[in-house]
Amino acid sequence: MNQKFLLLVLKYFCFSMAEMLLKASRMLSALLFVSNLLPWVHGEPQVPCYFIFGDSLFDNGNNNLLLNLAKANYLPYGIDFPKGPTGRYSNGRNIGDAIAELLGFEGYIPSLKQAIVANNVLQGVNYASGGAGIRNETGRQVGDLVPMDEQLQNHRTIVSRITRILGSKDSAFKHLNKCIYTVDMGINDYIMNYFMPQFYYTSRQYNVEQYATALIQQYSEQLKSLYDAGARKIAVMGLVRGGCFPFSLATFGTNGSLCVEMINNAVQIFNNKLISLINNLNAHLPHARFTYINLFQIDGASAQGFNITNIGCCRVITFVPCIPFSSPCSNRTDHQYAYWDSVHPIEARALIIGRRAYEAQEPTDAFPFDIRRLAQL
Ligand SMILES: *[C@@H]1O[C@H](CO)[C@@H](O)[C@H](O)[C@H]1NC(C)=O
Ligand SMILES: *[C@@H]1O[C@H](CO)[C@@H](O)[C@H](O)[C@H]1NC(C)=O
Ligand SMILES: *[C@@H]1O[C@H](CO)[C@@H](O)[C@H](O)[C@H]1NC(C)=O
Ligand SMILES: *[C@@H]1O[C@H](CO)[C@@H](O)[C@H](O)[C@H]1NC(C)=O
Repeated sequence: MNQKFLLLVLKYFCFSMAEMLLKASRMLSALLFVSNLLPWVHGEPQVPCYFIFGDSLFDNGNNNLLLNLAKANYLPYGIDFPKGPTGRYSNGRNIGDAIAELLGFEGYIPSLKQAIVANNVLQGVNYASGGAGIRNETGRQVGDLVPMDEQLQNHRTIVSRITRILGSKDSAFKHLNKCIYTVDMGINDYIMNYFMPQFYYTSRQYNVEQYATALIQQYSEQLKSLYDAGARKIAVMGLVRGGCFPFSLATFGTNGSLCVEMINNAVQIFNNKLISLINNLNAHLPHARFTYINLFQIDGASAQGFNITNIGCCRVITFVPCIPFSSPCSNRTDHQYAYWDSVHPIEARALIIGRRAYEAQEPTDAFPFDIRRLAQL
């Protein structure tokens, strides 16, 4: 406990320094972010719009303006990204960037702030926030963030804006029906809540089975409310192998196995209930096309061929983020390190994960549809 507290204080200190050093650079990037949409592919995207809900696997800068210790807008984050650090929890692109690229979008899907400032909301918005979860309180020990309920509120504001732009509710819904939506939520409800009994009561309140049921109940309401806002093509990400995070290994030990099975088992209980929920939503909501992306499987498969899985490429102090301005591993494309920091995949692996979510390699990677098929429906 004491050691943990010390680490938090140390971490806070590091971040305060990083904050100061970054104030100037942030002013500069504020001026630049309108031009942040990079060209990639020419031609029409496969769908007119892509909206992203999620956590740090998808965040592209939404946490930058919040008072939060779990930010990623400083070096070495973004070291391989064309515009440098943006708030992505990666050395380069993240899974959402990979999916947007494969869908044929000409630029990255903007963060909420970027979308509003550039008045560019029709092609989609990324609402994802590092540390966020299905539950409102999840991740709060590191500061302010945008939980799923609030991401949905933000989306409803954007939907009103789209309605004004397109002139009627009818044409707005027609547009929104065609978009792809990805939702990646829940791993923080375990890693940054249930398995942090020093901050949260949930593990005393619920056993893993009951906790998964409570989460799925809340998630069900959230996914229905996304449907009510006009979403039809919704890819819901299963939870990744949180028990294999270098962070989890460092925190819990593994008793000799490769991952912390206690965490992976809890996550799989959630995943199995999520599959039932998705079948249920498809059966009961007219024209709904929810699909399950088996990130648990894809996460494991994508790590094969990466030799180092127990520590990340950048240096950390037991906890999640890279030490500000520390030097990461030198070669980040040679498939040595599976993780970038102590939680998030290195860019090379994020791209593999995104590709496999988009185009399943095995039928169990995504069902009933992969994202490519979802776009065609
Ligand atoms: C979470 O917070 C939001 C906004 O503050 C609120 O509308 C919502 O009811 C809360 N959800 C729960 C389950 O407490
Ligand atoms: C390690 O093994 C012991 C004894 O089997 C068990 O009580 C404990 O929960 C295990 N720890 C983890 C992190 O799995
Ligand atoms: C992984 O390690 C093995 C044994 O050290 C080595 O032969 C192999 O080339 C390494 N793979 C990569 C991708 O570096
Ligand atoms: C990184 O590793 C890859 C694969 O081993 C190699 O092709 C590349 O030249 C290396 N890059 C640097 C900068 O060393």
